[in-house]
Amino acid sequence: MNRLRNYRTDKTTRDKYAEVFISAEDFIYPYFIVPGSHQKQEIASLHKVYRFSVDELLLDLVETVNLGITKILLFGVIDETHKNEKASEAWTENNLISQTIRMIKKQFPNLTVITDVCLCGYTNHGHCGILNGDMIDNDETLPYLAKMALRHALAGADYVAPSAMMDNQVSAIKNILKENHLNTKILSYSAKYSSGFYGPFRDAANSSPSFGDRKTYQMDYRTILQAIEEVQADIDEGTDWIMVKPAHTYLDIIQKIKIKYPNFPLVAYQVSGEYMMIKAASEAGYMNEEIAMHEVITAIKRAGANYIISYYAKEFIRKSL
Ligand code: PBG
Repeated sequence: MNRLRNYRTDKTTRDKYAEVFISAEDFIYPYFIVPGSHQKQEIASLHKVYRFSVDELLLDLVETVNLGITKILLFGVIDETHKNEKASEAWTENNLISQTIRMIKKQFPNLTVITDVCLCGYTNHGHCGILNGDMIDNDETLPYLAKMALRHALAGADYVAPSAMMDNQVSAIKNILKENHLNTKILSYSAKYSSGFYGPFRDAANSSPSFGDRKTYQMDYRTILQAIEEVQADIDEGTDWIMVKPAHTYLDIIQKIKIKYPNFPLVAYQVSGEYMMIKAASEAGYMNEEIAMHEVITAIKRAGANYIISYYAKEFIRKSL
């Protein structure tokens, strides 16, 4: 008889056989930034996550850095009244995110700053690109994404992260960075599926489409092969890191991509709805948050992610089992 239970007799023994480990450096922690000062706004749809003005952000970063987190991802959140057809607040010279990067880099020069590059938080219709009639015009959108990325790069971003799912967005950004002699890296949201799990984020970032959905640009969840095509296209266009998003519900895709591109840094995004699913169920008393959170994040790493974007990053580190 095989005595497989000998692997599990006590915690020390179980620890000895563990194959998957997670450290603070594996995490990328997302932040929502608002203009102004003295703002630390609770987000109704995303418990324990806040929108920060830059002064409050700098205070919060002290704790984040002390926990050992080395990478953050920034999203800008602006008022409806400042949004327009061309998303000008996304790419104007002294935009919110560029200002924020400069302030962060003054105080935390070694923190890796990644910025989301997408128009959805800045267009008056909430779509990720420029509209032509009621269609999102791919090629018309590219120069705006490029300009937005350039602004972030000039302000000192380490990585720009295009999430608009426009074809050729990595090339457009790569070219403008090259023309400006910048060696800012690109983390592309390569295989980004159209997902019901983005709901809480859209409330947090005030970025819901005012009509229709994102199915003409984000991927259909019934597809597998397209994930490989999307990743390959981004690699061909010169991306530095690749991403699969969401994560919890796309472990199969993470694993396929890791097997096909074993040497490419792979990021997985545990998105807002995947976070809130655990958070809300735990708050309601239906499961133990600590155990569930560790289990899911370990699963994402076990599937093959090198880095994990998660709203749980801080809690995970604080409550390491
Ligand atoms: C912007 C963007 C979205 C998310 C990250 N970048 C929203 C969307 O595509 O609708 C979602 C992240 C999350 O749900 O946590 N395009």
